[in-house]
Amino acid sequence: MRLDYLTIFPGFFAPLELSLPGKAADKGLLAFGVHDLRTWTHDRHRTVDDTPYGGGAGMVMRPEPWGEAFDELVRAGSTGAERTTIVFTTPSGEPFDQRLAEELATREHLLFACGRYEGIDQRVIDHARGVAEVREVSLGDYVLNGGEVAALAITEAVVRLLPGFMGNAASLVEESHAAGGLLEYPVYTKPPQWRGHEVPAVLRSGDHGRIAAWRHDQAVRRTAERRPDLLTPSVLDDGTPIVRAT
Ligand code: ADE
Repeated sequence: MRLDYLTIFPGFFAPLELSLPGKAADKGLLAFGVHDLRTWTHDRHRTVDDTPYGGGAGMVMRPEPWGEAFDELVRAGSTGAERTTIVFTTPSGEPFDQRLAEELATREHLLFACGRYEGIDQRVIDHARGVAEVREVSLGDYVLNGGEVAALAITEAVVRLLPGFMGNAASLVEESHAAGGLLEYPVYTKPPQWRGHEVPAVLRSGDHGRIAAWRHDQAVRRTAERRPDLLTPSVLDDGTPIVRAT
């Protein structure tokens, strides 16, 4: 996989070298490039924004530098998989979740377009759809100052799914938001007692059947309490309501 980032704040991406993607690059699983959008400006002030047509607060990112950057960075592979996927990080995009992380992990080339100010001129996105696959992605229902932090978060969620990246593939299957749709059960390690808090006895029983049942029960309870939207209600024959993951 190749990852490219287009931004007016390339310094935001320094952590890539240190963290998970840096390790993946060392293993040869991916390559990444960080690009200053101002490289593709031609005026003395390296201008990337201007006032919005129609009026209103703030500034809008001009289309020309984005267009020239895409001309250089977008790859038009012969198969769908080789083609670039441009990810515009924006609060008005589709919500980012584990399903989308899994989808993006199948792509050969992700190009993150990180907007600032009031957003990017809409013609950039319209143009991009003609040269690449385009996803507009939101990290959540809140507004950040720009798309850089969102691009980093998406990167981390995607890169850890690449085959050969995680040491322990089983932990990918069990963790929150994996296929089962439940939040993860609580976990414990040594010591067995700590500051008056005990590790639940069942986890020290050695009974793998009981342990699995306890963990499932805890996952369901936690999900019902914190994220009831992840569960669909169902009712047992005796009338006891139960919850089932969607
Ligand atoms: N840029 C600003 N806010 C954002 C958000 N919530 N998600 C993605 N990109 C953003």
